[in-house]
Amino acid sequence: MASDPGVLLLQLFTPEARANPYPIYAQLREAAPVIRSPMGGWMVTRYEQVDRVLRSSAFRTPRGYRDVNDPAGPPLFDPDGLLTLHRRNWVLFQSGEAHTRLRKLIMKVFTPRAVRALVPRIDALVDELLAPAIERGTMEVVAELAYPLPATVICELLGIPAADRERNRAWAAVVAATIDPMNTPAQRTAAEQAMAEWDPYIRALLADKRTRPGTSLLDDMLAVEDDGARLTEDEIAANATFLFLAGHETTTGLIGNGLYAMLKHPAQLSLLRERPAMLENAVEELLRFDSPVQFAPRVAIEPLEIEGVTIEKELPLMIALGCANHDPRRFERPDELDLARQDPKPLSFGGGPHYCVGAALARVETAAAFGKLIARAPTIELEAEPAWRAVLTLRGLQELRVRLA
Ligand code: HEM
Repeated sequence: MASDPGVLLLQLFTPEARANPYPIYAQLREAAPVIRSPMGGWMVTRYEQVDRVLRSSAFRTPRGYRDVNDPAGPPLFDPDGLLTLHRRNWVLFQSGEAHTRLRKLIMKVFTPRAVRALVPRIDALVDELLAPAIERGTMEVVAELAYPLPATVICELLGIPAADRERNRAWAAVVAATIDPMNTPAQRTAAEQAMAEWDPYIRALLADKRTRPGTSLLDDMLAVEDDGARLTEDEIAANATFLFLAGHETTTGLIGNGLYAMLKHPAQLSLLRERPAMLENAVEELLRFDSPVQFAPRVAIEPLEIEGVTIEKELPLMIALGCANHDPRRFERPDELDLARQDPKPLSFGGGPHYCVGAALARVETAAAFGKLIARAPTIELEAEPAWRAVLTLRGLQELRVRLA
């Protein structure tokens, strides 16, 4: 029966639902705030409960890998493989003191103040990326702007040479597919293979930085290691792969999804042209309208009850951010794009202790991309309906072709 919440939940991972998951989200959200998943575990669907779980100390992120006796099931990745080694060290999958220590170090680079200092470089990059497309009158927005902008910025922050960007991108794309809760054995094998190349690449880069220290985030991490032996090479290498991945896949999604949403709502695009001062608010509404990150993973530390449902300890809980962002209990006309919406407050960057480290950077990059594109192209038209990537957790377009005039 299609209205069975468990069946609906599985349908989310079909190609049709990936193109537009919102009708299924609406049914799931109306069915219950917490839904049992046929894959094992739970999904949280409504804004209030999603917000509460994200902030609650009764939950933590999963460890990113499974042991043989894991309550969630057998290991998905080779326990001795490099993918497991990286995942077990990614900041996202740390809790308590280990999490605070790593996060503090990374946060130093992404404070709003530090991000403001990057604005001139981001502006120059956007100008450079837009120039050939404006000249030509057409643009594949993902390949020419949405991807290279955040990827270049995160490479420069981490200290990954520009010439190596494409290799890192290819590895990251394959590894990112395993973030989806419905990943396949083929995707997992491909990710293990990618990591078998990516890990030695990063370690060689670190070795190079040790002999020729610079000012990048990876250099800062190495300096901490040297100072007080507080960060191991495994931790630094793992968080280099995580930051590269988290620093571009998501913002690429926001720029592509956001522009597509505005092209499907031309009156909203015109409004933004008339009132460029609402750009920051528009970015928040675009984050809400079609979040580039659709799920955050959690587990309950001890068995507990939410909304009358008992959540077992250690079983996966999918926090449905994109679903909560369209909750009519929180938003009037939730399925309408309203760039002037008062205080959209989307949950797209998560909340609580794991709140996105790169939120300020992502906002600045996206505002620069939209602000300059709109200013330089008096008309922007969709050339063809775009296709969505085969991953729902990191929601984004494969490509987005537009005509510019
Ligand atoms: C529109 C763009 C972005 C979106 C929607 C986004 C979304 C998120 C979300 C939802 C989380 C929390 C996951 C959870 O609680 O389970 C998160 C965490 C994180 N994000 Fe982002 N992100 C974006 C851009 C970035 C950028 C540009 C960077 C880095 C340069 C970044 C780095 C991180 C890191 C390091 C974490 C883990 C924080 C922790 O575990 O303490 N993100 N992001």
